[in-house]
Amino acid sequence: MQHDVATARIARNAGALSLPDPSQLFLHEKAVHVWILDEHVIRQACSSLRHTLSHDERQHARAYRHESDRNNFIARRSMLRSLIGVYLRTKPESLRFNVTRLGKPALQWPRGTRLAFNVSHTDGTALLAFALNCRVGIDVERRIRGIDAANIARGIFSPLEESALAAARTDSAAAFLSVWTRKEALLKALGCGLLVEPGSYTIEDAPALGEGRWHASKKGTRISGWTCLDLGFGPEVQGALAVSLDDARVTLCRCSSSSGSNDYSFAAMLP
Ligand SMILES: CC(C)(COP(=O)(O)OP(=O)(O)OC[C@H]1O[C@@H](n2cnc3c(N)ncnc32)[C@H](O)[C@@H]1OP(=O)(O)O)[C@@H](O)C(=O)NCCC(=O)NCCS
Repeated sequence: MQHDVATARIARNAGALSLPDPSQLFLHEKAVHVWILDEHVIRQACSSLRHTLSHDERQHARAYRHESDRNNFIARRSMLRSLIGVYLRTKPESLRFNVTRLGKPALQWPRGTRLAFNVSHTDGTALLAFALNCRVGIDVERRIRGIDAANIARGIFSPLEESALAAARTDSAAAFLSVWTRKEALLKALGCGLLVEPGSYTIEDAPALGEGRWHASKKGTRISGWTCLDLGFGPEVQGALAVSLDDARVTLCRCSSSSGSNDYSFAAMLP
């Protein structure tokens, strides 16, 4: 994946965690920001931003049996609140969420915003995607060794995807993860998740568009006008993004630590 680099250092402290300064963070038309939360940020967000959660979210957090799952939820939800607060220039605590019939979180207040977002997580990593006037879906998964990929794919993958998986003898786990993350990203953008006929969608490489680019079709008809790409985070963690924008410009926003203090770096990926 090609990265061109623009960096920005941002400093507005929220306890131990520095958050983007609203005067420096803009989401332009056709731009997608993908925020990467690693374990370090998850820990810090969990301790310094949890007060922004609603009563319902706190209850939801308490229902997780494992502390790491609970902390990951608290961190991604409080970072979601904080970042939406920055994009919309509003207080994180004032946001209200609801979910669609099929479970996709959406903003209930403020009403009528053009901001679209989606969230995904796996062990030790969470991704938050933001864009304007579109549908956006994101997925991240950690590679699990020794899974019965063909069995899990049944009913979720289309016949074409099942054939491609069967043909990928040398690394079927990687082939499985690639289709799985792409498909989840697409279906989360559409809002149906894996509930509604996932096998009727087919994901295929689109090498003519560039490395890591793919496109999707439903029952043989190409879904056009979308930007769909892989987000690779090394051999163990695979991500994918789908957004209903032509030629979207995707920027990875990474929370990192340097010289003992946090900052944010932006790496813009060329479409
Ligand atoms: C939605 C789904 C694809 C998520 O898959 P996953 O790999 O387990 O989880 P991910 O980490 O990628 O995503 C979780 C996030 O997706 C979002 N999400 C949930 N349902 C969603 C949907 N239908 N569409 C888009 N995003 C959704 C939430 O923000 C959630 O984050 P949260 O726990 O912080 O609220 C999967 O759970 C699914 O298809 N479920 C079926 C739909 C369902 O059960 N809905 C319940 C209400 S009817």
